[in-house]
Amino acid sequence: MKDLAPVYFASGRSPADEALRLQRLDSFYAAPTRAWLQQAAGLKPGMAVAEFGPGSGRMLDWFAGIVGRDGDVLGVDIDLSRAGPVRPPVRLMQADLHAPAAEPGAFDLVYARMVLGHLSDPDAAIARLLEWLRPGGRIALADLDCSRSLPEDMSTPGMAEFAAAMDATRQAMDETSLMDSAFGGRLAGAMKQAGVTQVNEQRFERVVEGGSDWALFQAENVEIIAGLTGAHEASAITARYMRTPGVRYHDQALVFCTGIRP
Ligand SMILES: C[S@@+](CC[C@H](N)C(=O)[O-])C[C@H]1O[C@@H](n2cnc3c(N)ncnc32)[C@H](O)[C@@H]1O
Repeated sequence: MKDLAPVYFASGRSPADEALRLQRLDSFYAAPTRAWLQQAAGLKPGMAVAEFGPGSGRMLDWFAGIVGRDGDVLGVDIDLSRAGPVRPPVRLMQADLHAPAAEPGAFDLVYARMVLGHLSDPDAAIARLLEWLRPGGRIALADLDCSRSLPEDMSTPGMAEFAAAMDATRQAMDETSLMDSAFGGRLAGAMKQAGVTQVNEQRFERVVEGGSDWALFQAENVEIIAGLTGAHEASAITARYMRTPGVRYHDQALVFCTGIRP
């Protein structure tokens, strides 16, 4: 079995292609993420926000619009080639989030979406993220839980094949450590274990239609994953059903958790 733990999900793709993929990923999740942060992250003008793994950088601009010129927005990514140019108050830092905090205790809010589930030791990563927060500051993390992604109606012809293929695709990610496909389901527990208090969890779940923009995007992602894990047959079947209009399935859940650094 391959060990893909050190491999970035989209390594091997050109920075331009990956930048576009990350922009599309952000646009699909922008509305629920922003609604959650507006309601649960205590955002205010003048705040200092640090985002880890900002990818396309789209959320950095959104934070900047809220905190304003008196605030501070720092994006920390191991690879900044996918982020666009930034304007104050946004700053970028190329760094590994496993490293000790370069600006310890400096932030009111630390945020990361769809980053921790890709890491080999997400618990250690949460401990590192907390170092950047002032005492009483808030941490807001979002990760995927793909474990309940299934066809909506298993009695429809072909859906047993689709479900088995989705399962094999997930298993290949987990067994190669490319990604922990169920990490979102364990996120709240991991935060509590790290000493975070007042942990609150919300799940963004929905049923999606094969052939929709989102399903077509997911089908492309499944094929990228197969290029790394080698699970080509399962991925081809999964992608085919995702591209088929009339197929309906429970989407991967995006699990949003907030809490406080004591
Ligand atoms: C799947 S993308 C998510 C992008 C963005 N957060 C979003 O939700 O649209 C993961 C991002 O985390 C970054 N990343 C991965 N490992 C990292 C690490 N050890 N330290 C800092 N950033 C990392 C990647 O470069 C990439 O930008």
